[in-house]
Amino acid sequence: MNLPAHQLSMTVLMSPDMANFSGNVHGGAILKLLDQVAYACASRYASHYVVTLSVDQVMFLQPIHVGELVTFLASVNHTGNSSMEIGIKVVAEDIRSQVVRHVNSCFFTMVAVDDDRKPAKVPTLRPFSPDEKRRWDAALVRKQVRQELAQRYQQVRQPVVDEA
Ligand SMILES: CC(C)(COP(=O)(O)OP(=O)(O)OC[C@H]1O[C@@H](n2cnc3c(N)ncnc32)[C@H](O)[C@@H]1OP(=O)(O)O)[C@@H](O)C(=O)NCCC(=O)NCCS
Repeated sequence: MNLPAHQLSMTVLMSPDMANFSGNVHGGAILKLLDQVAYACASRYASHYVVTLSVDQVMFLQPIHVGELVTFLASVNHTGNSSMEIGIKVVAEDIRSQVVRHVNSCFFTMVAVDDDRKPAKVPTLRPFSPDEKRRWDAALVRKQVRQELAQRYQQVRQPVVDEA
C-alpha cells in the first residue's frame, strides 16, 4: 500500500495459538501487536529507535475471532519535541462473509531515543488534509488531558500535611 511516511498498515491472520479459553483472540495477543505497530510507525517516521511511554483507550468492545484478518491502521497524529502520538484503528474482517468490523481505536505515546537512550528530536508533523488536522487537534487535547490526569494522580498520591 502506498502510504505516506507517517502512516503504516499491518494485516495479521488470527491463528489458533492466539486464542483464550473462550476460543476468541486473547487480548494480550492484540496488545502485543498494537505495540509492535506503534513501534514500527513511530520509528520509521522518526528514523530513530523509540520507546513506549503510554497507551490510552484500549477498549475491547467486541471479541475478535480466530480465523479473522485483523488490520492495524497506524498514523502519527501529533509530534512534540521527542514524543509522538500514534493512533491505531483496528478492523477485523471475516474472510468468508467479508464483513469488516471496527473493533478498537487506541493511542500510543512513543518517544524517540538516541544511542544513549536519551530523548531525540523528531521531525515536526505538518498536518495537511482535514483528517490530519482533526487528528492533530484531538491529539493535542488528549496530551493536555494526560498531563492534567498525571497532575491529579500526583496530588492524590501526596500525603496530606496537617497544617494545624
Ligand atoms: C520515555 C523516556 C525516555 C522519557 O525520558 P525523560 O527523561 O522523562 O525525558 P523527557 O523529560 O525529555 O521527556 C521526553 C518526552 O516524553 C514526555 N514525557 C515524559 N514523561 C512524561 C509523562 N509522565 N507524561 C507525559 N509525557 C511525558 C515529555 O513530555 C517529552 O515529550 P516532548 O519531547 O515531545 O516534549 C523515559 O521515561 C523512559 O525511558 N521510559 C521507559 C520507556 C520504556 O522502556 N518503555 C517500555 C516499557 S516495557
